[in-house]
Amino acid sequence: MDASWNQDHGRTMTKLVVMGDPGVDDAVAILCAAHFGTLLGIVATHGNAPAEVTARNALALCERAGLEVPVARGCPRSLMGEGTVSGAAFHGSAGLAGVALPEPKQALDPRCGAQFLIETASAHRGELVVVVTGAHTDLALALRLEPRLVSWLRAVAVMGGTAGPGNARPMACLNVLADPEAAAIVATSGLPLFWLGYELTRTVVLGEAELVRLEEGGKVARTMAAALRAYRERYRRVYGIDGAPIHDALAVLALALAERVPPGILRFVPTALEVVCAHGPARGMTIVDLRGIVDAAALPEDRRPRPPNVAYAVAVDREAAVEAVVAAILSYD
Ligand code: BDR
Ligand code: CA
Repeated sequence: MDASWNQDHGRTMTKLVVMGDPGVDDAVAILCAAHFGTLLGIVATHGNAPAEVTARNALALCERAGLEVPVARGCPRSLMGEGTVSGAAFHGSAGLAGVALPEPKQALDPRCGAQFLIETASAHRGELVVVVTGAHTDLALALRLEPRLVSWLRAVAVMGGTAGPGNARPMACLNVLADPEAAAIVATSGLPLFWLGYELTRTVVLGEAELVRLEEGGKVARTMAAALRAYRERYRRVYGIDGAPIHDALAVLALALAERVPPGILRFVPTALEVVCAHGPARGMTIVDLRGIVDAAALPEDRRPRPPNVAYAVAVDREAAVEAVVAAILSYD
């Protein structure tokens, strides 16, 4: 796995599948994926809301945005069958607080999320980039069903986990806590992983000026402005953060490189990331080795870093990221 992959590759329309739980910022991510890349499908996962709700939201969003993209519903529960976590406190109980989209007319793809991913990856071997913005359940299932997926996928961008504060627990992020065993399967899969933690993504927000720009845009932009205003209000009330975060869209920006995405918005370093699956207060935490060790051989063996399994996002150009996301949303009618 090469941490500079996103700096110098892909000046073409990257083929993408988004596996997420829309969710306000997932909706932004989907719009960005279709704008900056070629969106081949959406797998609606559990997480912010049950999978049937996030699937309905994905379909409704695609119809609002005029996107003809297959939507497959993911697994309703975690691999261990635990009840899902919920993002209702931030995204509302229907997942897209602040907007009421009409019931979608389009039907779901008949395949389950894992099967949909396997068949899409098989048809686009070596080309497909997966962006995980919800629970990891369906990607983990797909890896178990079809181990060749590791060589078929070009890369995977994950928004999940944290190397600092969390959202679902003090030090755990919802997307990993929703299914820690699945996240551990993904983290140890050998896939080229570009991992963005909550401690970084929560620092990139849309403020009043951006929301006003969206409100002056087309139908899709106005819809997203309403959802993002509600999201911002929850973040302001709960965390005192004055802005609507765009966590999931950052994962798209990391790898959906087209002519319109400035390179270098995010900086990654190769490192070791481990998911805590033990039950108790640390369940769902991600242990990210950011000690910055340059000479491991100088350390005793038990203090040396484990081999890198991810490229971890350590810096972001906030202004460029916000601008790219606003431009993507405004590009819709
Ligand atoms: C993640 O949690 C969810 O609520 C968001 O959609 C995002 O994927 C941020 O930690
Ligand atoms: Ca999400």
